[in-house]
Amino acid sequence: MEKSRTAEDSSDIGVARVFLDESISRAYAQHRHCYSEELFQIISDYCRENTQQLNLAIDVGCGPGNSTVGFTKHFKQVIGVDMSETQIAQAPKNIPNCQFKLGFATNLDFLEPCSVDLVACGLTINLISKSA
Ligand SMILES: C[S@@+](CC[C@H](N)C(=O)[O-])C[C@H]1O[C@@H](n2cnc3c(N)ncnc32)[C@H](O)[C@@H]1O
Repeated sequence: MEKSRTAEDSSDIGVARVFLDESISRAYAQHRHCYSEELFQIISDYCRENTQQLNLAIDVGCGPGNSTVGFTKHFKQVIGVDMSETQIAQAPKNIPNCQFKLGFATNLDFLEPCSVDLVACGLTINLISKSA
């Protein structure tokens, strides 16, 4: 995320602002349900059929990683991106092929062109405003 632009000082993130709160992020990580193994398998199989490779998956609005980690069994590398530092802080740090980055969904410039095989977005697309 560029220095001058953080979620905290953005006026246009709307209701998603609740996810900047540390206690909400802690509670979300604790109580949020996990997606089934089967779901990650179905999505990954679909992706394999269409791209013939499972190199890189991106999970936009990854929260504490519950929509991210399941892809690590299927993809060589997985990156979770979230605008909330407190949400990212709840994500696991010890999975070798998985990293979490602070950033906006609308600014994924760190990615090489055509390098991504899957863009996932669990329960987040409705929260993303045009500018954030
Ligand atoms: C409802 S949670 C979903 C978390 C997780 N993907 C899941 O399935 O449980 C929404 C997440 O989207 C993030 N978010 C909302 N708007 C965003 C944006 N414009 N860019 C990046 N992350 C965003 C919030 O910080 C929050 O962690």
